[in-house]
Amino acid sequence: MGSVSFNGGHFRKLWNVELEEFRDHLLRLSSESRHLRFGAEVSDTFIEDYASHALDSNCRVWGFFGPRGNLRGTGELKSFPKKPDCAEAAFTVEDRYRGQGVGSELLSRIIRSARNRDIHHLYLNCLSENLVMQSVARKFQADLTFDQGDVVCDLKPSHATALTRLGEVIEDSSGLVYGVLDLQHRWVDSHLQ
Ligand SMILES: CC(C)(COP(=O)(O)OP(=O)(O)OC[C@H]1O[C@@H](n2cnc3c(N)ncnc32)[C@H](O)[C@@H]1OP(=O)(O)O)[C@@H](O)C(=O)NCCC(=O)NCCS
Repeated sequence: MGSVSFNGGHFRKLWNVELEEFRDHLLRLSSESRHLRFGAEVSDTFIEDYASHALDSNCRVWGFFGPRGNLRGTGELKSFPKKPDCAEAAFTVEDRYRGQGVGSELLSRIIRSARNRDIHHLYLNCLSENLVMQSVARKFQADLTFDQGDVVCDLKPSHATALTRLGEVIEDSSGLVYGVLDLQHRWVDSHLQ
């Protein structure tokens, strides 16, 4: 895992007040990217409803924020209420930020968080044509199962260590500082437009 600061942007968890940022990030995705992310070409209305539940009690979202505090990539972690040691993850990175390691950095943070929460199966569902997502999952030793156009990538996070727990706490602390700066940047930009 690289540092919090990355290619002029940074990684941190999304705050509850940032659901609109998440919605706007998803709305910026092309129809092809929406298809790859959701398995179908979903409408704006679907995305608005989906985003409003992104931080429900069993969900967490990690973000990659650009230099002006705008959300450019996300990794979602959703635990299964009835299977506490299992969870699923999903990713989106906006076109111009792809191929620079953002998706891999988000996945490494999701895995660390899964370790810290005693999650032993992390599932990632994607279309079989989605070679990029499969390539990212393979970097983290995922087992891939192909089934009629879909692929389930099963990652098996190992146990937490003092280092994984400390790493997340330290990153959450710096996330507080970055978060305040992001809010300021977005406020300034929206009032100067
Ligand atoms: C999948 C996605 C999140 C990856 O984000 P990203 O920031 O581009 O990912 P990274 O840069 O960390 O890694 C991409 C890897 O794919 C590899 N790759 C690129 N094109 C590829 C191809 N055609 N076939 C195989 N691997 C490919 C790259 O070489 C890179 O691996 P490397 O770092 O070892 O060189 C992004 O493409 C995306 O948002 N796609 C649309 C939504 C989606 O598909 N979500 C997944 C379903 S949940």
